[in-house]
Amino acid sequence: MAARVSETWVLVCLGALLARWVAAGLEAVVIGEVHEDITLHCGNISGQRGLVTWYRNDSEPVFLLSSNSSLPPAKPRFSLENASSLHIEALSLQDEGNYTCWEVLNKTRWFRVWLQVASGPDQVEVNISTTGVLPNGTLYVAKGSHVDFTCSSSSRPPPLVEWWFQAPDSRAEPFGNNLTVSSFTLLLMSQNLQGNYTCVATNNLSRRHRKVTTELLVYYPPPSALQCWAEISPGSFMLQLTCLWDGGYPDPNFLWTEEPGGVIVGTSNLGVEMLNRSQLSDGRKFKCVGRHIVGPESGASCMVQIKSPSILSEPMKTCLVGGNVTLTCQVTGAYPLAKILWLRNLTQPEMIVQPSSHHLISVTGQSSTLTIRNCSQDLDEGYYVCRAENPVGVREVDIWLSVKEPLNIVGIVGTIVSLLLLGLAIISGLMLYYSPVFCWKLGNTFRGQDMGDVMVLVESEEEMEEEEDAAEEEEEVEEEANEREELPKEIPTHGHIHRVTALVNGNVDWMDNGLQALQDDSSEQQSDVTQEEDRPV
Ligand SMILES: *[C@@H]1O[C@H](CO)[C@@H](O)[C@H](O)[C@H]1NC(C)=O
Ligand SMILES: *[C@@H]1O[C@H](CO)[C@@H](O)[C@H](O)[C@H]1NC(C)=O
Ligand SMILES: *[C@@H]1O[C@H](CO)[C@@H](O)[C@H](O)[C@H]1NC(C)=O
Ligand SMILES: *[C@@H]1O[C@H](CO)[C@@H](O)[C@H](O)[C@H]1NC(C)=O
Ligand SMILES: *[C@@H]1O[C@H](CO)[C@@H](O)[C@H](O)[C@H]1NC(C)=O
Ligand SMILES: *[C@@H]1O[C@H](CO)[C@@H](O)[C@H](O)[C@H]1NC(C)=O
Ligand SMILES: *[C@@H]1O[C@H](CO)[C@@H](O)[C@H](O)[C@H]1NC(C)=O
Ligand SMILES: *[C@@H]1O[C@H](CO)[C@@H](O)[C@H](O)[C@H]1NC(C)=O
Ligand SMILES: *[C@@H]1O[C@H](CO)[C@@H](O)[C@H](O)[C@H]1NC(C)=O
Ligand SMILES: *[C@@H]1O[C@H](CO)[C@@H](O)[C@H](O)[C@H]1NC(C)=O
Ligand SMILES: *[C@@H]1O[C@H](CO)[C@@H](O)[C@H](O)[C@H]1NC(C)=O
Ligand SMILES: *[C@@H]1O[C@H](CO)[C@@H](O)[C@H](O)[C@H]1NC(C)=O
Repeated sequence: MAARVSETWVLVCLGALLARWVAAGLEAVVIGEVHEDITLHCGNISGQRGLVTWYRNDSEPVFLLSSNSSLPPAKPRFSLENASSLHIEALSLQDEGNYTCWEVLNKTRWFRVWLQVASGPDQVEVNISTTGVLPNGTLYVAKGSHVDFTCSSSSRPPPLVEWWFQAPDSRAEPFGNNLTVSSFTLLLMSQNLQGNYTCVATNNLSRRHRKVTTELLVYYPPPSALQCWAEISPGSFMLQLTCLWDGGYPDPNFLWTEEPGGVIVGTSNLGVEMLNRSQLSDGRKFKCVGRHIVGPESGASCMVQIKSPSILSEPMKTCLVGGNVTLTCQVTGAYPLAKILWLRNLTQPEMIVQPSSHHLISVTGQSSTLTIRNCSQDLDEGYYVCRAENPVGVREVDIWLSVKEPLNIVGIVGTIVSLLLLGLAIISGLMLYYSPVFCWKLGNTFRGQDMGDVMVLVESEEEMEEEEDAAEEEEEVEEEANEREELPKEIPTHGHIHRVTALVNGNVDWMDNGLQALQDDSSEQQSDVTQEEDRPV
């Protein structure tokens, strides 16, 4: 009851004093923040203070507290400090306003304090769209896309919002042309716009600011086409599958599968998979699918098919002693490309032919030639093996090389002629020794009888040659017989002479053949015969 009466008195009293307060006209502005404490001083006076009473001056003055103990006590949150200052705890926005202190000493003085209460910025919210989010929370956008940036925060008074951009390894700079807008749009994202975007919200009253930094990555798929291949892994002899899709950011992922069936061989960022031999068989197909985070949904793919090598080569070759010969080995169908080796199995079964002045090896693509220079029968005759090998398979082909003495034609002719002359001489001698009638009989026999008789005669004749000549081939005999088929048509009395001529001619023809055969490196049989004929020389 008493308190209310005194309050009323204070208000009346205050009203009477108002005119004089205005006249005093000292004013201060104090800025506080919500939830914090603040002290308002009653003027800037040092020394002894009189009784101080604080009022709040809204539409009309409201008593707060006084150092006159006979006046009502202070409301909660309000207290007097050093007998003159007003202390307010835990400011709220409602505390903003004008405050007045009235001091009574020798004379009455008053001061006005304008309390401003600032709030925030509390929550800064950044919204960057349209973006993707990585598992670690980092945002990414596709190069060339358009991106909206929005920054919002609650603050009193409303905040000043600024955007800053920091590219990797460079200083932060205000974004754009001194922008202070809360939202903007970038139309064509490019690689140099990747970096940290910072939104700074500032409360101009309290100078308090908050910022939120968002990392934004600018991704792009590889511009090139996906490539894949199989090769022999360097070092080991495993098959290496490689998939390449270059130029994107970040690196794409690769998935290797076996087709058909889609059994997974492996997934990686490198695109390289190793296969050991047990996983390889001729004709198997492997597919690589490359996927990029901002690439096409289905990814890009390519396929490889592994194949074991096949070899094309001639089965045999002939070389003349002292000459050169080239063995050729052509590999086809091998994937990955085959390694080609020349081997000999003369003494050791797996002896690799090393390049030397005697053995020239040249490789062109998947074809290899082995040139043997200065052939020698002892060293070079025999089997040569061409081996083509890739991780899928191994193929070998044997090539037989025969080395022959070159023919001495004059020697052969001379030998044959002298042999025949010798035979002729012996026959003539025998006939002259027995009877000239035999000669007539022989003529008749040739005319009237069949070939069997002729053969008998010839064979008996040949036996004599064979005594000197070791073994003659049947073919040779037949050939001579064929030559003699013509004999009956000749004049009988000159039978011997004709026969000799025929034989000589036959042999010459036959020698021509042999010569040709040698030049052609073919006609193995005839060459063999020639050689046998040659030996007695
Ligand atoms: C009080 O006034 C004096 C001089 O008049 C000045 O130097 C001082 O800074 C003032 N103090 C405050 C808190 O305003
Ligand atoms: C108190 O407020 C009223 C109106 O808002 C104003 O006219 C008056 O001058 C103020 N008094 C003081 C001491 O500031
Ligand atoms: C203190 O307040 C009482 C009651 O309102 C009043 O009578 C007294 O004069 C005041 N004292 C001063 C020094 O103003
Ligand atoms: C109160 O007085 C003490 C001592 O003179 C001083 O240290 C302190 O700052 C003063 N408080 C206020 C709110 O003026
Ligand atoms: C406080 O007084 C000033 C003038 O001195 C005025 O501009 C301001 O609006 C007042 N504040 C409030 C909350 O009334
Ligand atoms: C107030 O009066 C006392 C004596 O009553 C005097 O000593 C003092 O100096 C005066 N103060 C002012 C500020 O005038
Ligand atoms: C961000 O902005 C987009 C469009 O500008 C809107 O659809 C989306 O809801 C916003 N997200 C948040 C979290 O505000
Ligand atoms: C999130 O992951 C991406 C890609 O792995 C990386 O570039 C980025 O630095 C990571 N961010 C954080 C904050 O770890
Ligand atoms: C941005 O504008 C403010 C004033 O509006 C100026 O003080 C500041 O230097 C400007 N900054 C740049 C980078 O232009
Ligand atoms: C963004 O800032 C973080 C922390 O300072 C830093 O690790 C990261 O590399 C920055 N990102 C870019 C793209 O600059
Ligand atoms: C064999 O080849 C070498 C070199 O290519 C050549 O000098 C030599 O004359 C050749 N020999 C024969 C018989 O062709
Ligand atoms: C060489 O190889 C061939 C074919 O594999 C084989 O017939 C021949 O017996 C081998 N010779 C030697 C000496 O190993």
